[in-house]
Amino acid sequence: MDTAAPPRLTVIGTGYLGATHAVCMASLGFEVLGVDVDADKIAKLASGQVPFFEPGLPELLAKTLESGRLRFTTSYAEAAEFGDVHFICVGTPQMPGSDACDISYVDAAVGALAPHLTRRALVVGKSTVPVGTAARLTHTVRELAPAGEEVELAWNPEFLREGYAVDDTLRPDRLVFGVASEWARERLTAAFRPVIDAGTPVVVTDLATAELVKVAANSFLATKISYINAMAEVCEATGADVSDLAAALAHDDRIGGRFLQPGLGFGGGCLPKDIRAFAHRAEEIGVGQAVSFLREVDAINRRRRSRTVDLVRELLGGRLDGKRIACLGAAFKPNSDDIRDAPALDVARTMHGLGAYVRVYDPAALDNARRAYPELRYGSSALDVARDADVVVLLTEWAEFRQIDPEAMAKVTAHRRIVDGRHALDPEVWRAAGWEYRALGRSWPDDRRGGH
Ligand SMILES: NC(=O)c1ccc[n+]([C@@H]2O[C@H](COP(=O)([O-])OP(=O)(O)OC[C@H]3O[C@@H](n4cnc5c(N)ncnc54)[C@H](O)[C@@H]3O)[C@@H](O)[C@H]2O)c1
Repeated sequence: MDTAAPPRLTVIGTGYLGATHAVCMASLGFEVLGVDVDADKIAKLASGQVPFFEPGLPELLAKTLESGRLRFTTSYAEAAEFGDVHFICVGTPQMPGSDACDISYVDAAVGALAPHLTRRALVVGKSTVPVGTAARLTHTVRELAPAGEEVELAWNPEFLREGYAVDDTLRPDRLVFGVASEWARERLTAAFRPVIDAGTPVVVTDLATAELVKVAANSFLATKISYINAMAEVCEATGADVSDLAAALAHDDRIGGRFLQPGLGFGGGCLPKDIRAFAHRAEEIGVGQAVSFLREVDAINRRRRSRTVDLVRELLGGRLDGKRIACLGAAFKPNSDDIRDAPALDVARTMHGLGAYVRVYDPAALDNARRAYPELRYGSSALDVARDADVVVLLTEWAEFRQIDPEAMAKVTAHRRIVDGRHALDPEVWRAAGWEYRALGRSWPDDRRGGH
């Protein structure tokens, strides 16, 4: 292999992370082969369709397919033949009935690739895994690969955010290379040459540290969100206002305002399962106490969902059954169609289970939500689901919900009542339009300042 030439890349697992990585790497000039066991997904991608919602990705997929640098396959033999550096991007969901990470897809991908590796190659894990996985896989790969010791393993955790995935991949805050040799470092550097040349900082470390960086980052972010939501609980009990509190904290540079937004809390395919898997893994290796606070972070986060249902019930005078409820949002966050562990759908389903007539609208996640929860009803716009509603509940802070005109909405609802689960609306504007406005951790004017 000519180490001066740019390495040819494979990306194994073409979901939210892998498809984005494959397309972005091809856009940077690399020859890339995307691999997945899901033949439908591969056919879609090969025909220029992105199977999920991600701003900017469809355009970039079209361009890179046209360039001839990006192809897709379901064949591991073809992948091994083609690639110098193989990125493993398969899912690592929560194990059913346990907090542990289900690592079986990573094992299966490595197990399928390795027997075809007949020459020097680097296998790079990008999936989020329990610490110790890379060390174990190093042995597996070498045992299974005909090229034996010639094959090395590295870990390169991924920090992209859905909704900003293209930009985060092309211009990440940092790259982390977990490597066991100088050759692996050199190969990874070559695989990210354009990103590094653009000034991205690189942290080169060992395999275990690279695995831990990812779960440590997600634990920190989850803790910050649950911290402000814990303050919201205290505010609720004391008549204080968590929005003012958060604004005051955010002025302190040491604290900062990002991820300090009170509300319905976090969800999605990463934060919840990553903090649970981290706590579980830490217990396995005898350091559970060090991260036991993550259990509390998780509990605070879950309480926000039930408290949101309580707030809706309170606003409706104590009963949900038979009430018409408009839910704005289904995705776990705006600019995504991802509904994995989505707080919005959790709240909608709970209210449905309590006898309410729930209708849901989301700008991107309706198809996914319909498939997963056919028992809920869905509508084609915010105003559509709000028709005759007893209460409107904002659950995902899409930009289009922030722009809703309270007067226009009041024309279609049965009552002017809104619960803002994301602190996304201006309460003054909605109250001025005659709406009863409620948000977690916020007092209402009558209780607070004797009205205004
Ligand atoms: N989604 C994100 O924002 C994000 C960000 C950072 C890290 N991660 C991590 O990246 C990993 C992937 O997450 P995702 O959100 O892209 O998941 P996903 O479910 O969208 O995609 C996983 C893909 O892997 C494929 N797959 C499963 N088994 C396979 C096999 N044996 N061979 C080839 N393909 C296989 C699936 O068909 C699917 O297309 C996870 O570990 C996740 O924690 C995700």
